[in-house]
Formats: sequence, C-alpha cells, structure tokens
Amino acid sequence: MLVSDGDVVPMNYHFTTTKAHIVLNGGRIEELFTDAGLQVSSTEPFKGNMDVRRLEDLVGHVGAARIPFVRMEAGTNLIGGQPFSLANLREVRAVCDRHGLMLVLDASLLADNLHFIKVREQACADMSIREITRALSDLCDVIYFSARKLGCARGGGMLLRERGLYDRLRGMIPLYEGFLTYGGMSVREMEAITVGLEETMDEDMISQGPQFIEYMVNELDRRGVPVITPAGGLGCHVDAMRFLDHVPQEEYPAGALAAAAYLAGGIRGMERGTMSEQREPDGSERLAEMELLRLAMPRRVFTLSQVQYAVDRISWLYENRRLVGGLRFEEEPEVLRFFYGRLVPQGGWQDELVAAFRRDFGDSL
Ligand SMILES: Cc1ncc(COP(=O)(O)O)c(C=O)c1O
Repeated sequence: MLVSDGDVVPMNYHFTTTKAHIVLNGGRIEELFTDAGLQVSSTEPFKGNMDVRRLEDLVGHVGAARIPFVRMEAGTNLIGGQPFSLANLREVRAVCDRHGLMLVLDASLLADNLHFIKVREQACADMSIREITRALSDLCDVIYFSARKLGCARGGGMLLRERGLYDRLRGMIPLYEGFLTYGGMSVREMEAITVGLEETMDEDMISQGPQFIEYMVNELDRRGVPVITPAGGLGCHVDAMRFLDHVPQEEYPAGALAAAAYLAGGIRGMERGTMSEQREPDGSERLAEMELLRLAMPRRVFTLSQVQYAVDRISWLYENRRLVGGLRFEEEPEVLRFFYGRLVPQGGWQDELVAAFRRDFGDSL
C-alpha cells in the first residue's frame, strides 16, 4: 500500500518477505550497508549500520518523491544478525528529516540489537535497556515487528505515530488478516506479546541468546571452522562460501551445508544465501552476497551441552567437507522458493557422507 510502481526503498539490508512485498508492488530495494557490513570476518561492532552517505546520494539520484520510506532492520537477519548503533539511527533520522522521508524500523530482532547497543556502544553503556528502547523509538515514524522473535509470542505488531497513516493501514486488516471480531490476533496473544515485550527490557534476559551464540562462534572459530565474526544475534552463522568452497553458488552451498549438518548430527539449520533469493526476470540466478548456514539460537531453548554437541558435529563435518556436494531444485516455486521448494543432491554425495559418518561413529548415534 505504501509502495507503488517505480518506487525505491532504501534499507540497511533486505529481509526476504519484505523484499518480495516491495517487488510485488512494482518497487525495488536499495541496500545501503557499509563497507564492513558484508565482511565475513570482522571486528566491526555494528555491521548492520546504514551508510548515510549512500543514502544522501540515493535521494539526490532518484528524488525523495520516489522513496516511500527508509527501512532499518534491527539485528540485520541476512548478514548474520548484525546490529546497528543508536548513533547510526540518529544519522539516518537526520537525512530523513532533511528530505521529509518516513523512517520505518523492522524491530523483529530488536532484543539482540538492544543488548549490543548496551554492551558495544560506549555512549549508551550507562543507559538502561528501557532508555535505549525509548531513544530508538523516538527516532522512528513506524515500528513493526514479528512477535515470534520480539516478545516470543505469536503474531506481531505495528506502531504508528500518525493518525492519518493508521487510518489508511487499518483498511488492510480485513483484507490480510480478518477483522478483530472474526479473525486476527486473539486478546490472549496480545497479552502474551505484552509480557514478552516487558521481559525484553531485562538485560539479563536478552543477553542469554547472544552469550550462547558468542560461545558457539568462538568455539567453531577456534577449531578453524569459518563463521561470521563478530558474533551477532539470532544465531551462529557458518560461512558456507568458505566451508564448501568447492560448491558453486548456483548449487546452493548454504543449502547443501544445511542438509549435511542435518545428516551428520540432526542439527537443523537454515539456508541464508542464493536459495533465499529470487531469480532475475530472465531466469538467471541472483547470486547472494553471502552464503550462510544459520544455526538459530533462541533464548531459553538450548542448553550449553547441546551447543557443544553441535560444535563437535560441525567440526567433524568441516574435516569431511569435501564429501559434501551441491543441490538442485526439483520443484521451484516462483515466489519465495525456499519455503516450499524441493531440492535433490547433485550426484550421490549424501550416501558417501553417511557412510563416512558410520565409519567414525558407528550406528549407535
Ligand atoms: C527481520 C525480520 N523481519 C520479519 C520477519 C518475518 O516474521 P514473520 O514470519 O513472523 O512475519 C523475520 C523473520 O525471521 C525477521 O527476521
């Protein structure tokens, strides 16, 4: 509804379904990450920052009238759960103010981002999580979130500053969800979200996920397994481009690694790479900037010994990585193919991998 034909939506990085919505409405996205954003091994604390110079250039190039809003994503999902800083959001806001642009925050992964602002941004070290949240919120015109992540409940929310925009968007609820009295979110869910949001203000609570992730990243890194550094939020991200450097991107190395990790340890990860992209209109592959296996680590779900088990199996897999081959689509949906598509291995590598596993571990596991 906000995006129409020919519009451009600048963002620090895209999220799959968000991009699909924008493209389906005739718009396109511009990813304005900083130079550090896509560096796999780095010590940069805020790889989710937007390059505001590039934002200024874009506005100068396409004109503010073609930009329905600027989108910032907290805990930037597809580049490894990397945060932006409060200082960066202030800079983005200043550009928006100069050009009369609306600033929209995807706060789905805000909990991790809040934690990183607290521990990595010196100017915020003495602020409480609630104060940081307030400061971030005051900079945004719209905040939306998936409560599956933020709040650990079901559904989600959208917070709007302007009554006029609220009235426009309200009309979409019966179209996409169902009116309050015959569908949509139950009051019980809304209550669960409220409790979850309140818990998110507790640093002891929101730091648990990032601490486990950091542990896993450091353990894998120590064993030479290529992972995204510094550790971000959301999960441990294994760099499939280096892990399976013999598998071409057209054969989905991150997807192949996800399949291999499941075979070699029952570890369920998620492909975040070329398979999560959509083909170009001419049918060619749009190769992703990063090929990641995401090992998500929601708080309060895993124990440390489960993490150690996963580290052990992934290290074994790394030693046996040459056994892993690529994948190809057997059934490929046009939109968001990674949700419903079916893939098959190229050749019979899965049998060789399982045989090697049996040799080393026997049948008992
Ligand atoms: C940043 C971000 N935005 C949006 C979503 C979509 O969430 P949902 O599937 O609950 O709509 C996700 C899901 O992982 C996400 O990470």
